[in-house]
Formats: sequence, structure tokens, C-alpha cells
Amino acid sequence: MSLKRKDFLGLYNVEADEIYEILETAKAMKEIFTRSVKKVPTLRGKTIVNLFFEPSTRTKSSFDLAAKRLSADVMSISKSTSSVAKGETLLDTARTLEVMGADVVVIRHSAAGAAEFLARKIKASVLNAGDGAHAHPTQALLDMYTIKEKLGKIQGLKVLIVGDIAHSRVARSNIWGLTKLGAEVRVTGPATLIPKEISKMGVKVFTDLDKALVGVDVVNILRIQLERQAKGLFPSIREYRQFYGINDERLSGLSKDVLIMHPGPMNRGIEIESSVADGDQSVITEQVTNGVAIRMALLYLLAGRDLKDEDLN
Ligand code: CP
Repeated sequence: MSLKRKDFLGLYNVEADEIYEILETAKAMKEIFTRSVKKVPTLRGKTIVNLFFEPSTRTKSSFDLAAKRLSADVMSISKSTSSVAKGETLLDTARTLEVMGADVVVIRHSAAGAAEFLARKIKASVLNAGDGAHAHPTQALLDMYTIKEKLGKIQGLKVLIVGDIAHSRVARSNIWGLTKLGAEVRVTGPATLIPKEISKMGVKVFTDLDKALVGVDVVNILRIQLERQAKGLFPSIREYRQFYGINDERLSGLSKDVLIMHPGPMNRGIEIESSVADGDQSVITEQVTNGVAIRMALLYLLAGRDLKDEDLN
């Protein structure tokens, strides 16, 4: 098994069969979690560098754990504790790590296009762990994995994404991935947080949450980026909660089979009430677990391009 590419930068240029291949590989990886020793020697001798220039809990720790479960050597570099804080460029940092033998560079950066830039400049594989408001492909893949695991399919499902669509790399990556796999994707949020051109991505746009919720199978709730309020992009937290918050009342109007998702970190009591986040329909903790399996799959498919299928055992 291998991907058709050196780098994994986003779902915008990935075909449906490649997405299914990653999801299938993640399923095999998840089986390893059930073993008493949750580790395989598959990537022994390979080196993974986690280059995180933006804060992260879930993505960074799951890439760390994924690399360790595959027995790779892993190095983690952050902006504040590296020479980037002394003015070193992203490229010089990456090249320094490459000549130490990095096979895969996982990068999170606040600038859209940072992963693509690095991929053009270094020989190591580059894996995008979130770049600005552009793309967060591993988040979308773990979301799709969770939907498929829970509901058995993706094709034909109605998936609603709620919140700040304009500034969300999670929304964009989910839209690219889900539409390729044949889901109907809806988006809703304050008009100021929905880009006019979003319908060109093949989604249905709603400004009324309650209308958008009719007949959905999945509700994926985005974190409201509180710094946007200072820029006047939504009126107040109280109004956001009233018009776009997912609460028990809204949930009670939906089928009991509807999945509630959130990529994290959550603003409890704003975009999602705690009772919903911790309720029976929530799959938020499963999303986090599945994130490790998806990241193991991608590291295996990129770093293990010269390995054979049986090496997974
Ligand atoms: N969902 C997500 O990307 O979370 P982190 O910022 O904690 O990695």
C-alpha cells in the first residue's frame, strides 16, 4: 500500500479512492489499539519531525503517539523553544531537520500555504497538520472515519457544518473530502462568517440553523474563534449561542441517530452545551481516538513507501 504522492497537503487534490485507502489503512491501525502491546515495528528506523508553529493539543499529541506506535524516531519542535524564536526561517529550520535524516515533516503553521511551500523545497515528505484557514486534512479524515465507523457509509448522508465557515480549515477540508465521497454538505452560521463563494464548493448554504438541521445525519460544530468578535464579525456571544448554539432543545428535535461532532477545542456553553458535548449522541471522544489511527495510517503510507503490506503485522 502507498499513496500516489510524496506529500499530503490537503483533500482538494486527492481522489475518492485514495481517501478510501487511507480510511481502510486507519481501520487496520485501529486494530492495534486493542492489543495489550499497542506498538508495531513498521516504521523502525524512520524519522518523523513534528514542526508545530501554532498551539495544538490533539493534532500534535496524536502525531507523536502515532509515530511512537509505529516505532519511528520522533522529534517535536515548537516555535517558542526552537531557533525560529531567534529569527530562523521556516525553510532553514526544515532543511536543518532534513539533513539530520527526517523522512516525514509534519507541519502546523498559521500561514496558509506553508506546508505546500515546504513540500516544494525539501525532499522529505511533508504532511499538513493545519495551515492558516486553508486546510486541515487529517482532521477531515478522522471526521470521515468516525462517520463511516458509526453510520456505515458516507455516500448520501447529510452533514451539516455549523459556525465560522470563513476562517475554518476544518470546514474547508471536510467539504472537499465529504463531497468527493458523495455526501450532501450543508453549512450554516452568521452571514458575516460564510464566504460568498462557498456554494461553488458544492455545499448548501443556510443562515437559519433550525432549517439547516432538518433531516441531517451528522452535525459538525466548529469552534467559534472568539477573536472574531473583536473584529465585529458576529454581534455577541449571547446572540451566537441563541442562534447557532447546539443545545438540548435543538437536539431533541432531531433523530436519536444523528451524530454530534466537534473537532475541538470546544467553547462549552457557546457553540455547544456541555449536555450535548457529553451526551449519548456525541462522538467527540471517538474523533480524538480515531485521530491517532488516521495519523498512523498517513505516516505509514508516506514514510513506508518502500515497505511491503506484510510489514504492518
Ligand atoms: N482539532 C484540532 O486541530 O485541535 P488542536 O488544535 O488541539 O490540534
